[in-house]
Amino acid sequence: MEKILILDFGGQYNQLIARRVREQQVYCEVHPGNMPLEEIRRFDPIGIIFTGGPNSVYLPDSPKPDPGVFSLGVPILGICYGCQLLAHLLGGQVTAAQDDAAREYGKTETAFETDCALFTGLPDTSVTWMSHGDYTARVPAGFRIAARSAACPTAAICDEARRFYGVQFHPEVSHTAFGSEMLRNFLCTVCRAHGEWTMADFRRRAVDEVRERVGDGRVLLALSGGVDSSVLAALLSEAVGEQLTCIFVDHGLLRKNEGDEVEAAFAGRKLNFRRVDAQARFLDRLRGVTEPEQKRRVIGEEFIRVFEEEGRRLGTADFLAQGTIYPDVIESGLGEAAVIKSHHNVGGLPDVLEFREILEPLRMLFKDEVRALGRALGLPESLVARQPFPGPGLAIRVIGEVTAEKLALLREADAIFREEMARAGLDRTASQYFAVLTNLRSVGVMGDGRSYDRAVVLRSVQTTDYMTADWSRLPYELLDRASVRIVNEVKGVNRVLYDITSKPPATVEYE
Ligand code: XMP
Repeated sequence: MEKILILDFGGQYNQLIARRVREQQVYCEVHPGNMPLEEIRRFDPIGIIFTGGPNSVYLPDSPKPDPGVFSLGVPILGICYGCQLLAHLLGGQVTAAQDDAAREYGKTETAFETDCALFTGLPDTSVTWMSHGDYTARVPAGFRIAARSAACPTAAICDEARRFYGVQFHPEVSHTAFGSEMLRNFLCTVCRAHGEWTMADFRRRAVDEVRERVGDGRVLLALSGGVDSSVLAALLSEAVGEQLTCIFVDHGLLRKNEGDEVEAAFAGRKLNFRRVDAQARFLDRLRGVTEPEQKRRVIGEEFIRVFEEEGRRLGTADFLAQGTIYPDVIESGLGEAAVIKSHHNVGGLPDVLEFREILEPLRMLFKDEVRALGRALGLPESLVARQPFPGPGLAIRVIGEVTAEKLALLREADAIFREEMARAGLDRTASQYFAVLTNLRSVGVMGDGRSYDRAVVLRSVQTTDYMTADWSRLPYELLDRASVRIVNEVKGVNRVLYDITSKPPATVEYE
């Protein structure tokens, strides 16, 4: 398989670079910048990318690659700090911009030499995204300048004989107008990749690998109904059929019809599927609990208790399957075994359940690849395209104590909002959208009478990383329709509010 190696020097965009490469259907992995040469050789990349990073290359402690990397005969693309590494380590000179004029941040008009393989077929001027203080003051022997901006005379450098390319800007960021094309030029023209990384192919390989590893062993999986665990269940069911047992703990905190949809998606497949109806247990444990962290803890603990009880009934499982995906692996320390993700970000894994090994077949996939795999495995779109949903479910969208009545009310309001978002065609463009039931009661007038009912908040955000998010500028007509319908159709609600707070300072969820 053709592979690109991404050496990480601490840049904030390392995951983004990897996603952009995968979007060109070329497989890549992110590894620490100081990966030993022997390991690089074993990895056998067709090309290497150096990421950006916050350091200055001329400082003694700044991270550097193994110098042998330049003698492998493999093409290298250095981005920002990565470009400066090329210049510095190959005999050029990198210096700090002396005055603010040479420091660049933001969208920058840049002129390109289009005879450089990186920029072939592109306009000779376009906008790039710059974010740097240092720059290459003298290019190394064998290199030439391939792009310039007003403030940076070395916006790109290249040595085409050795196939080394450096860009001072960030082609992976969408603000760089032709960034994807530049990466494609590097991958397809310079590295001669064929773009054969597809989910149909991954599916075949993953099924074979799982079969081989599991043999005639038994596999246990906690199915939450989210995208990752659902796709994992479908993959494992194809690989090992009834050797797989999925325990779907229905905590009663799911959205309208969600539990039934999950069950229906697995109805025709070969696996042991157990849905445990545990709503009463969860509500019992949640009685009187109002503090958000306490709520999360209670739900996390109860989830594990139910899962353990069911698991124990099955006896020892050989494998516990986990829906770990690549961002978790990258975030938890590059290349090392991923820390096991706790289902609800609270509590942890069942430690009294016995199993021999952990199985994580999705650990090298990004979220969009997991969705594509789900489609390849024939899962319904309603499941595959599902927006993120927190493990503690609607409990953290009911402010204050959680009761069956409040949940029923929130479920209806949320379903109406989702219907209206879909009708307006915004269900695919908003990153996450949902209703929240507040603790606020206020006076209203309904018909001839006075009401003293609850207020529902609608929230919709735009984000790519969920670490920051902007509130969605939804059309007034849509908000109006959702508001009118919720107040009319959901008894007990007389006021609808729209949340116009971004993250930070707010979070996406309310608790
Ligand atoms: P916050 O509220 O922290 O949410 O801005 C960021 C993203 O994380 C999701 N979220 C969770 N996901 N378990 C999860 O699996 C959780 O306990 C949890 N809490 C928040 C949230 O929906 C948003 O997408």
